[in-house]
Amino acid sequence: MKGIILSGGSATRLRPCTKITSKQLLPVYNRPMIYYPLNTLIKAGIKEILIIVAPERAGDYLNLLGSGKEFGVKFTYEVQDKPRGLADAFIIGENFIDQGNVTMILGDNIFEDDFSKEIKSFKSGAKVFAKKVSDPERFGVVKFDDNMRAVQIEEKPKKWISDYALTGLYIYDGSVVEASKSVKPSERGELEITELHNWYLKRGELEVAMVKGEWLDAGTFDSLLEAQILAKEKLQDKLVI
Ligand code: TTP
Repeated sequence: MKGIILSGGSATRLRPCTKITSKQLLPVYNRPMIYYPLNTLIKAGIKEILIIVAPERAGDYLNLLGSGKEFGVKFTYEVQDKPRGLADAFIIGENFIDQGNVTMILGDNIFEDDFSKEIKSFKSGAKVFAKKVSDPERFGVVKFDDNMRAVQIEEKPKKWISDYALTGLYIYDGSVVEASKSVKPSERGELEITELHNWYLKRGELEVAMVKGEWLDAGTFDSLLEAQILAKEKLQDKLVI
């Protein structure tokens, strides 16, 4: 299993703090934000990690994280020249993935949960993780049938379909590259990860599990503040780096 941290994007909701740096390098209590998703991957035993960054910030990531030796892992870096969407990560990462299994985590997602078991036992298809939220219209949303099997996935639905959001940790087999190449840009011009999930869902190869504990995407000032508190109060003794 290889890992990808998607750490580009525009971070417009955190301006002006992100005018001269990347969102995922901002402090979350006592560590740069990216250390938290990095912890999630390293704890699950992933040794090869691709970090995808925006061109203006590439040097900062190299200075902060280096080769990975310090953390007992190997980092590879790729630049995403424009924020073309989350599924673009697998086109950028095609050579790195090399037809194997891959776990992607978003650089601004902070989890209390430990995904080691799911990552280590993954065989094929796709496995994603849902969490009940009060504002599902902000997320990719999954609807379940009576047996809690996923039946529909929609990106930022205007009409309510379910309260379950898909969080920013995804496990795929090597066909994710082919699937990503088949995705057409959405109305907002992005390669939506929801399309990938529908690609696997249609084939009966998508598994959706629940996230335990707290989960935050630290992309707004309020969620960044919540993330600081979560990190201080609940995460410190769970961190390995
Ligand atoms: P978002 O929070 O949806 O987008 P953003 O970071 O550009 O922020 P804003 O909406 O405030 O402008 O992105 C989720 C995560 O994915 C975040 O860590 C940034 C990353 N990302 C990329 O690296 N490349 C992309 O093309 C996109 C869309 C997001």
